[in-house]
Amino acid sequence: MKSTLICSHPFDDQRPGTSGLRKKVRDFQVPHYLENFLQAIFDSQSDLRGGTLVVGGDGRYYNREAVQVIIRMAAANGVSTLIIGQGGLLSTPAASCIIRKYQANGGIILSASHNPGGPDGDFGIKFNTANGGPAPEVVTELIYACTRTVDCYRSVELDAIDLDVIGEQRVGEMLVKLIDPVADYAELMAKLFDFELIRKRFSGGDFRMLFDAMHAVTGPYAHQILEQQLGAKAGTVINGKPKADFGGGHPDPNLVHAHEIVERSSGTDGVDFAAASDGDGDRNMILGRDFFVTPSDSLAVMAANAHLIKGYRDGIRGVARSMPTSQAVDRVAEHLGISCYETPTGWKFFGNLLDDGCITLCGEESFGSGSDHVQEKDGLWAVLFWLNLLAVRRQSVAEIVTEHWHTYGRNFYTRYDYEGIEIESAEALIAELRKQLPRLPGSKLGGYEVEYADDFSYTDPIDGSISERQGIRIGFKDGSRIVYRLSGTGTQGATLRVYLEAYEADPEQHGRETAEVMAPLVKIATELAEIKARTGRSDPTVIT
Ligand code: G1P
Ligand code: ZN
Repeated sequence: MKSTLICSHPFDDQRPGTSGLRKKVRDFQVPHYLENFLQAIFDSQSDLRGGTLVVGGDGRYYNREAVQVIIRMAAANGVSTLIIGQGGLLSTPAASCIIRKYQANGGIILSASHNPGGPDGDFGIKFNTANGGPAPEVVTELIYACTRTVDCYRSVELDAIDLDVIGEQRVGEMLVKLIDPVADYAELMAKLFDFELIRKRFSGGDFRMLFDAMHAVTGPYAHQILEQQLGAKAGTVINGKPKADFGGGHPDPNLVHAHEIVERSSGTDGVDFAAASDGDGDRNMILGRDFFVTPSDSLAVMAANAHLIKGYRDGIRGVARSMPTSQAVDRVAEHLGISCYETPTGWKFFGNLLDDGCITLCGEESFGSGSDHVQEKDGLWAVLFWLNLLAVRRQSVAEIVTEHWHTYGRNFYTRYDYEGIEIESAEALIAELRKQLPRLPGSKLGGYEVEYADDFSYTDPIDGSISERQGIRIGFKDGSRIVYRLSGTGTQGATLRVYLEAYEADPEQHGRETAEVMAPLVKIATELAEIKARTGRSDPTVIT
């Protein structure tokens, strides 16, 4: 099989963001755009020559085409074994699991996570390293540097491979293995959780659950694990067939986009437990009957109860949360006497801590949680953790969380997103806040005394790398916080995220409405950053 060199020209907009290179499908369809980025991966990752590469995606529009391009280019670039999920599918956590299990040299995940799909939607490519985790910044910067000079790429001539048939075949020298995307992941889940106990909970007849796969990649995983293996009744998994356009929706597991399970878990007839995952299966939302568990609380509850779960019976070594995530888990860590790390936004910052055994659990406010079982956040894992916990404690979700607040206090939390604003205005807003930082400590903002104000900078405790300008933090004396940062995953204009947190120790106050508790902080945050004047928006696009 002859490898040919095809001429292209470098693109100057291929710097990976918070989570890989994410663009409109149309951008990826520009001739040579996808190929150049792939060539930059092959050029910068010399281990792939003669090595093993894992490939799969969330099934969105352009997934299959991109897999065929990868097959041709991997063969031309000397990859020895290519492992592909059947149908070109692999959830992000399953890809991580498979990279680790088969000791691959890396993986390419095709996904734009929770962003809409279809021809007018988004597409993305993430490169994961041999540890199964998202490439750290040193690697993504290397890939980016290569994209600046790539002016040709290698490919072979080959008819499209049938991605739907499990089995092995040769493409020139390269071995292509099409595998069941679910099996290895399901096997890992069975090691971590007490499947027998969960099966009993389902067979008892007094426990009902719903899982919304949002027409995305977790459908096959959830059908297999929840319904086939754990015996949840048929119909537990809804929207379980992956669709290229996610049924026209946003595959984002939050109260707005996963509204069907919100409705079906409400009222006396509501199910006991409901959950959803996103496009590529790494996010999760947890609901009880008439009860929403914030992702920050979910992480804290998991940490406090890990000893009750089979795979974590011996206790957890440490925890980590992204900086904007609420400090609820910090209180649990303190109680347990374990370390709690505060990292910049993005899963890649947990990588070294997980690899080095510093932490067992970690999470982000953006509906992400995970553990050292893979090197990615993991939606279905979180759902199974909760299921296992509900089966052990035989209490409702609401009872477990309110008891938790009773013990540790409640961190009320909300996030305001202003999407699609002008990049210049967004950057000016942050720059102006940055200027104000030195004068803020000690001052009063609407009755709250500022304890500290900074632009978050993180020094990785393992490799010493420094990540600066990771978000503006304003901390108040009573433990409340306001955080501002610009999104690194958007594909249109800029997205300003404002994260707000208020701590309440008094159980009498725990039942209050979040919106009411947060109102004074919202006012301070919007005024301090002059959001309306600078962005023209009086209201956020989404509140979570
Ligand atoms: C967002 C989330 C972040 C998450 C990332 C990938 O990034 O805020 O926590 O890791 O998506 O799922 P952002 O758009 O804020 O840069
Ligand atoms: Zn995702």
